[in-house]
Amino acid sequence: MNYEQSAREQADRLRASGHATILAIESSCDETAAAIIHDGREIVSSIISSQIPLHAMYGGVVPEIASRKHVESVDPVVDECLKKAGMTLADVDAVAVTYGPGLVGALLIGVSAAKALAYAAGKPLIPVNHIEGHVSANYIAHKDLEPPFVCLVASGGHSHIVRVDDYGVYTLLGQTMDDAAGEAFDKAARVLGLPYPGGPMLDKLSREGNPHALKLPHVQTPGRYDYSFSGLKTALINTVHKLRQNGQDVPAADIAASFQYAAVELLSDKAVLAAKESASRVMALAGGVASNSGLRNTMNDKCQKAGIRLVMPPPILCTDNAAMIGSAGFYRLMRGEIAGLDLNACPSLRLV
Ligand code: KG4
Ligand code: ZN
Repeated sequence: MNYEQSAREQADRLRASGHATILAIESSCDETAAAIIHDGREIVSSIISSQIPLHAMYGGVVPEIASRKHVESVDPVVDECLKKAGMTLADVDAVAVTYGPGLVGALLIGVSAAKALAYAAGKPLIPVNHIEGHVSANYIAHKDLEPPFVCLVASGGHSHIVRVDDYGVYTLLGQTMDDAAGEAFDKAARVLGLPYPGGPMLDKLSREGNPHALKLPHVQTPGRYDYSFSGLKTALINTVHKLRQNGQDVPAADIAASFQYAAVELLSDKAVLAAKESASRVMALAGGVASNSGLRNTMNDKCQKAGIRLVMPPPILCTDNAAMIGSAGFYRLMRGEIAGLDLNACPSLRLV
């Protein structure tokens, strides 16, 4: 029997049993990560190798450097993950991998490694959408969470409000019309002279500042649930440049706090409105920006007032990791979705 026939038969058996232990690989941007996940909810082991120090001197991710580092890291990260779990490749049921969206060179490393492992071990290969992975981090953090719910996905490349109708079934309610939320945080941080990665640095600095020191615009968009962050970012950049031109001090902590306040108000207002208007009793947060302290606190307050249950992963599962890919991979496998060895990276893959 050839690989693809045998992989399909195994996938059908796993689906019928309702159980699977999955080795997952994530390499879409600047983290090389591997995890072993049981039944989509339980982390057996998870390893994240961050490239932050490599890119920090350039002020952002350099795609070519990211790809080269993934090549060096992917095998050791997978080995460490298996070792930590006390397992060998023979003990896992399937291999899941992020195949998009992301940097094409970076994605290709994870996809190639996953294909080689799946083929060598004769296991099914599961293709996973990175954004679906972010949403699925909530299934690991909240064992009782089941669709339907509304999810705000805010990362470095995406800002979406989606309704999760069922596992793997999404309705797009709104999205950003220009910059992603994380991108706006990173650009604001850069103009304040904070090192890469800007979002978490700005979050930290904003705790020392006054969020009402500076009045920044609450940008309106034609779509009820759509976002726009570029006006907010430009207002902040203009404020900082004006202060510098006038030879005045730039109160970085106050500016950071005011920016974070304005961005969080925008994100939370529309997300809660979407949950209310779609009569969803549960709201989830996902993506790197979901680790922002201001967003977590404000969403807590607003959801509580609206009588909506708020769920969110711990910060380590909000930023890129492979555990979330293993969770999304499990539910794909349970729907019979596996890939052949012709799986390719898909840099602009969409969720909906
Ligand atoms: O989801 P993620 O790890 O990677 C992508 O898929 O893009 O998100 C990374 C983004 C970056 O823009 C980063 O600055 C932002 O999430 N981020 C934060 C925080 N932690 C990460 N933004 C604001 N506050 C944070 N604490
Ligand atoms: Zn991500």
